[in-house]
Amino acid sequence: MKELLEAFETYLKENLPKAPSFHPYYEKALGEMALAGGKRFRAALVLAAATGLDATSAQKAMSVALAIELFHTYSLIHDDLPAMDNADFRRSVPTLHKSYDEVTAILAGDALNSHSFLCLANAPLPSETKVKLVAILAENGGAAGMVLGQALDCRFEGQTLDLSQVEFIHRRKTGKLIAASLQMGAYVGGADDDFAKRLYDFGMDLGLYFQIRDDIIDATQESAAVGKPTHNDDNKNSFVTLLGLDEAQKRAQKEAQKLREAIGSLPNALCAALNDALRGYI
Ligand code: IPE
Ligand code: IPE
Ligand code: MG
Ligand code: MG
Ligand code: MG
Repeated sequence: MKELLEAFETYLKENLPKAPSFHPYYEKALGEMALAGGKRFRAALVLAAATGLDATSAQKAMSVALAIELFHTYSLIHDDLPAMDNADFRRSVPTLHKSYDEVTAILAGDALNSHSFLCLANAPLPSETKVKLVAILAENGGAAGMVLGQALDCRFEGQTLDLSQVEFIHRRKTGKLIAASLQMGAYVGGADDDFAKRLYDFGMDLGLYFQIRDDIIDATQESAAVGKPTHNDDNKNSFVTLLGLDEAQKRAQKEAQKLREAIGSLPNALCAALNDALRGYI
């Protein structure tokens, strides 16, 4: 996975959106948050699912991994805006609305959203596969997916929801893009619809776990260590605010155990690739 992710960084640098004009900083701003790094968790999932099913598929998977990382980066740029979480830094650099202005952050997010679909359209894959990938990203990222999760998260800030409602939010704002990463990778690796759906369902559970873990990180880690503001969820419907830290940690451990078991039942090469991608997470 290390080599694949290194190759992904090179691919990303070469395939960011280009928009030359007389604007003093717009084009630079488009790529800035993607270049700042992040864990590349979703890219790793695409690459692991694809290469775990077809060892020769890494090159084909790069544009798909880039699409999902750019879409995710758009969601973070907008998540950090003053109207949403009002965060001053992300991936250890100032957020775009801090470095530049809100207009630039909003528009850079818009542009990355569109660019992610262009990455899919231009991927070296059969047209039928690409149509499936476009639909998966749109469904899971858009109206009833990540955006719905964010809408609920923001609308109910400061109002206590019950656990099933918070889980509903987490599965949408975070789970669906993570599930989509695995499902898209599965299609690149040649999976049929049933197997791709099996990985999608696993991805929904992984995504819930990932967001519970993120809620725990908010409560327990310092901002410098994670590159974004922490101790920021007090007013939010997080697993920690709802259950308390101990119970949230117990729930996370339970979810991690379920995930390890599910990975163990997958074909050997895929099991190895996913274990590699998830090392340090579960
Ligand atoms: C942050 O995602 C937002 C959540 C869904 C928890 P990541 O923790 O994957 O952020 P990066 O990509 O590493 O910056
Ligand atoms: C954001 O969740 C999920 C997104 C869809 C961006 P958070 O608001 O908890 O993410 P962080 O903690 O700012 O990374
Ligand atoms: Mg948020
Ligand atoms: Mg946030
Ligand atoms: Mg968070």
